[in-house]
Amino acid sequence: MSIILLGAPGAGKGTQAQFITEKFKIPQISTGDMLRNAIKAGTELGKQAKKIMDAGHLVSDEIVIGLVKERIKEADCKNGYLFDGFPRTTAQADALRDAGVKIDYVMEIAVPDEQIIARLSGRRVHPASGRTYHTEHNPPKIQGKDDLTGEDLIQRDDDKEETIKKRLQVYHAQTSVLCKYYANEKDVKFVTIDGTQSVGKVTEEVLQALSNA
Ligand code: AP5
Repeated sequence: MSIILLGAPGAGKGTQAQFITEKFKIPQISTGDMLRNAIKAGTELGKQAKKIMDAGHLVSDEIVIGLVKERIKEADCKNGYLFDGFPRTTAQADALRDAGVKIDYVMEIAVPDEQIIARLSGRRVHPASGRTYHTEHNPPKIQGKDDLTGEDLIQRDDDKEETIKKRLQVYHAQTSVLCKYYANEKDVKFVTIDGTQSVGKVTEEVLQALSNA
């Protein structure tokens, strides 16, 4: 089963990805996490990506497509995958199609821009796993600590108000067109979920939409 999660920064893609991957036993392919791992590892790619990500822009299609093409060759991808934050441009979606990657579901998590800024300023992340929390809406069991490992949670460098606004602009200019792109694909089931509801309710609707899979 292959799924794409679409939605603005902070819509809740990473949060829902945790539930979907657990239920369907497929890996989460988050290009944002892959790029952050490259930054952490101090690779040349990571150094280039950091400047772009901190400014709220998109990393080049060529780099991201290359990363994804390598990732989906790995053994854990043989039964499918969940793309989180990819594709983000028409060129990336075309590259997936040209590579013969079949997509079963595209789920758009819709949240208006006004709610995004408040959400992202409260986000806390466990960098090693990508697990995501919110200080109010989805708090960890112990403040500032990951539920599973007890390790420290951090605030992402691009979760500053100015950068969030830039990321939202980029989303509307380059990524939101993909909703129409996939809604028009006849072999893809395209679903929009109201992401303004509680985390639990969004999960319920996401899993319900996938229940016939
Ligand atoms: P990426 O890491 O993909 O970030 P993003 O798309 O901006 O999405 P986020 O991770 O910010 O949000 P999310 O939707 O996953 O929300 P979350 O679940 O965390 O990309 C970062 C950067 O990398 C990009 O700007 C770009 O530079 C680069 N990049 C990545 N992929 C690329 C690509 N394909 N091409 C080019 N460049 C690329 O939730 C947010 C917060 O809200 C959390 O605190 C959460 O707990 C809370 N929350 C979640 N759901 C709810 C709810 N229902 N109610 C209340 N709070 C909620």
